[in-house]
Parts: sequence; structure tokens; C-alpha cells
Amino acid sequence: MTMSDFTSLKFENNKLIYINQTKLPLVEEYVTTDDYERIAEAIEILEIRGAPAIGVAAAYALALSIKNESEEQHKTFNEAYQRLAETRPTAVNLFWALDSVKEIFDNNQTSSSLFFLLINKAIEIHQDDINKCEEIGNNGVELLEKDSTILTHCNTGQLATGGNGTAFNVIKKGFESGKVKFVYADETRPLLQGSRLTAFELSKAGIPFEILVDSAAATLFAKEEIDAVIVGADRIAANGDTANKIGTFNLAVLCQHFNIPFYIAAPISTIDTSISSGDEINIEMRDQTELSFINDVQVTNSNYDAYTPAFDVTPNELITAIITDRKNYQPPFSF
Ligand code: MRU
Repeated sequence: MTMSDFTSLKFENNKLIYINQTKLPLVEEYVTTDDYERIAEAIEILEIRGAPAIGVAAAYALALSIKNESEEQHKTFNEAYQRLAETRPTAVNLFWALDSVKEIFDNNQTSSSLFFLLINKAIEIHQDDINKCEEIGNNGVELLEKDSTILTHCNTGQLATGGNGTAFNVIKKGFESGKVKFVYADETRPLLQGSRLTAFELSKAGIPFEILVDSAAATLFAKEEIDAVIVGADRIAANGDTANKIGTFNLAVLCQHFNIPFYIAAPISTIDTSISSGDEINIEMRDQTELSFINDVQVTNSNYDAYTPAFDVTPNELITAIITDRKNYQPPFSF
């Protein structure tokens, strides 16, 4: 199904099997569960993360909530819906996936195969994401020049999606077709999705790369080392304003200063046309211990107050194009 010898999310024998992303790249540990509460917790603590992957996992979790069909089914389903919807607020894919499963539930209340209908919906969402990743990769690669060096931020590959990735798949297809020769992966403080997860994926895919601390990006631009920046998205407003991992906005500003293309890559399901601008995006604040501890090692006083947004919003005027499974959108954005 995928390019490498690891599986990010798999559904087998009515159980979800996922790789625990908090342990990568040092330990490749898989968790197998059919408990929606365990999956909700996994999303909350970023064992499963990345907007499309969160959506896929939540769809399976919601379907699994009624595995023991009973008279309490309606109550259980609603509790599971609420619990999963409260895990992370920013990625719209979560709510889109939950609502897709809920629609099947609402329309088939009396069906004796309700559980299987919900599981089939979750499988469909997963398969759909695999297909979308391919289209995003194919569309995005058209924008790249031969032998480009790309900078990316956070993690957008197989780990972050149901398929081969969004921005990562553009990079991967670019590498395979000679359009990408080298990748710089931002470390992505504080949870290191770049230096841990993107590095893991680049290494598995055999793509030459270096990791760098987020604050080294400007120096790299100044040395004229970067041809394009490609990142993913957690939610895109109707005007193209884009929420993505904290630090993305900084890169977009740098791209404008150095006149370098700044691309967003995301499935159509990441576009939330119900909101007109990025001001309406709910930005998740994380616990301050994510700054005071790294992997259980305390690095500063935990009583220091901390500013902890998990995402920022890049204004649409800084975005060169939004690559989707449907097409590449150029500004002014209209979806
Ligand atoms: O907090 P995370 O690790 O879930 O944040 C993930 C990102 O910001 C990704 O860039 C985004 O979800 C796109 S994933 C294809």
C-alpha cells in the first residue's frame, strides 16, 4: 500500500493498528486497539497526529464505539462523538470525518448491520485519503523546477495521513522524477515532528536531507540554498488563510522577503468554507510542560509561564499556491 516498511494506520480484524509516533524514530512500536477511548487518548497525546491521520483514526474510533451493539447504542455513540471531537480543535479533518460517520449512523438507526456500515464508512474515508494523497503529489510536482532544494516544516507524510502524504508526497514524487534533489527538514519545536518524523520518513524513502533548528531557516535562505517551501495544513479558510504547525507563518514571511515560492499542500477536506478567514480558526494551546520537558527530561523550571500555540495562521497573501487533490489553486483563492 505504501512506499516503505512501516505502517502508520491499519485496520485489521476490527481493530486499529497504529505506530506510536511519540516514540519515533528511536523505537518503532505498534499499538493495537478496538477501544475508542484509547484512540481518543492517542490523538490527544499525539501518538496519532497530522490532520488527515487524525480524521481517519477518529472515523475508525467512532465506528468502533458501537462494536458491542446494545440498547445503549445511541448514548454510547453520542458520548464517543463528543469525546473524539474534544481531542484536538484545529484540524478540520477530525470534525469532517466524525460528521461523515455520524451521517451514516443517523440514517441507518434501524439497520441490523449498523456497525458494519460505520466501519465501511471509516474504511472509505481511509481509502479516499490514500487516493487524495496521490492526486496531491501528482498536482504539486507540476509546480516544481528540476533539481530543486525544498524546505519543509512539521510532518506531512505517511505518518500524518492515511496514504503517502500531502506536502511529503509532492517532495517524494519530485525526488522520483528528478525535480527534487535535496530536502531541509525543520526540527519543529517543541514536539520535533520534523527532526523525528519527517527525518524518519525521508530516510526510509532514501531522499537526501538535513535537519535544522527552526531558527536556522533565515540563514539558509540567505545562502540561497532553498528553491521552494512546501508544508501541509490543518485548516484552510475560504479566503486561503491557512493554519498549520507553529512556525509555518515565519517561513512564509521569509519566502516573501527572499522571493521564494511558498506552497501549501492539503486535501480538499482541509478547506473549511464555513469560515471566511483565518481569524475564525480555533488555535489549540498545548500544555506548558511541552516546553519545560523534552522526553521526560526537565529542561527549564515548570513554573515559568509559557506561550504555547500549536499552530499559526499564514495569511493568504503570503501563499504562492494551494496544492489539493482537485487542482492547484492560485491567488486570489476561491474554492
Ligand atoms: O500537532 P500535529 O503534529 O498534529 O500538527 C501537524 C501539522 O501541523 C501538519 O503539518 C498538518 O497536520 C498537515 S499533515 C498532512
